[in-house]
Amino acid sequence: MQQRVSIHGQWSSRLAFILAATGSAVGLGNIWKFPYITGEYGGGAFVLVYLACVVAIGLPVMMAEIMLGRRGRQNPINTMGTLAEEAGRSRFWSLIGWSGVLAGFLILSYYSVIAGWAIAYVFKTASGALIGVDAETAGSLFGSFVSDPWQLLAWHSLFMVLTALVIARGVQSGLERAVRWLMPGLFALLLVLLGYSISNGAFVEGLEFLFKPDFSKLSTSALLTAMGHAFFTLSLGMGAIMMYGSYLAQDASIGKTSLIIAGLDTLVALLAGMVIFPIVFANGLEPAAGPGLIFKTLPIAFGQMPMGIFFGSLFFVLLVFAAWSSAISLVEPAVAWLVENRDMSRIKATVLVALVTWALGLITVMSFSDWAFGFSFLGVQKENGLFDVLDLLTTNFMLPLGGLAIALFATWAMQRKAVTEELAMGEGLAFRGWYFLTRYVTPLGLVFVFLNGLGLL
Ligand code: PFF
Repeated sequence: MQQRVSIHGQWSSRLAFILAATGSAVGLGNIWKFPYITGEYGGGAFVLVYLACVVAIGLPVMMAEIMLGRRGRQNPINTMGTLAEEAGRSRFWSLIGWSGVLAGFLILSYYSVIAGWAIAYVFKTASGALIGVDAETAGSLFGSFVSDPWQLLAWHSLFMVLTALVIARGVQSGLERAVRWLMPGLFALLLVLLGYSISNGAFVEGLEFLFKPDFSKLSTSALLTAMGHAFFTLSLGMGAIMMYGSYLAQDASIGKTSLIIAGLDTLVALLAGMVIFPIVFANGLEPAAGPGLIFKTLPIAFGQMPMGIFFGSLFFVLLVFAAWSSAISLVEPAVAWLVENRDMSRIKATVLVALVTWALGLITVMSFSDWAFGFSFLGVQKENGLFDVLDLLTTNFMLPLGGLAIALFATWAMQRKAVTEELAMGEGLAFRGWYFLTRYVTPLGLVFVFLNGLGLL
């Protein structure tokens, strides 16, 4: 087959792809979301299921997604259409791309609001307002902050502008440069925080909570959420990694690359958990405090540690950068589609996409104050109305369904010969293992969790 080339350019090296894909994967999902859902779903058993999902479902789907992207070399909608045609299948497969674009808008709409919280906390920390705060003060500061929609709106708007600026500049100059220094920086700071938690937190209790599984706590919704989170945290199931794969050089190894990305992503999440829970227990906080968890716990640590203002501000700056490099990937498929199919300039496409997402974000802005309402999702109490609805809909349903379709397409609809050619890892054990996982284990696992989640099994 003659190889396609992406009109948007290509990563300058495999390392650049790894950095960008890791930049997409590592974000609020690891540092903000993983700890709070782990807290809500009771700790160890949830973490174990999440790890199993990363290995048995996430990794195979990631390889499939990158492979499809690199073969199609276009936005996910066109890529799926082209590859379906090549395999003699219906163009309906491009629905995967459409649902991904929609999921990208919905996710970024709330992602940007939460990233706005992180920006606000850069300033709160730097101003010294958090020095010496106890758990109660940190909690009430957070509470009054999120119940002020105007503040949330301002920070959300700022984050959308930042995101649009990078997207408008394009793959190489924009995306690559942003992640090169930030990821190692974030990692280093997490280690500093870990030092704090080891010496000042209830470290053993925190570790036990995270790693000692108590399966009696594992509810149906915990399974569904753990699986959904595996997709969310690895940026899978919506075409983001497919899009990035379309900029990947032909000779880069997809298998090894995926292992590195998933490994780093998981490491960051576990580190974040090991930092947060010792602080939670040492200060008598509630692990199930919900989306505010890190904003209620970390300020306590920064307020007490030497050079806390410095480390605290830097930490939130890096968190914003991590969110930034993820946000970019959330709308890159939509922007690429507008450029490829609607003949728009990159700048125009970016402005359009950013405006729509910004407007959708108002739903989340209001979910923490005037529009807040509680409901129970398969036995877990949620307090933040439409924000939670958006999150559950995208993370627990749209992404896993997208992943299911991707796994099925790669191993049932596509010809095996084309897959072997594109993955270029020979026909050895590694390939056969991946093929088996993606063809049987991943789809059956997904279907099982869905049926179980809906109470049908
Ligand atoms: N993986 C990102 C995180 O963990 O914060 C979120 C995300 C980015 C999800 C891109 C989906 C996506 F396509």
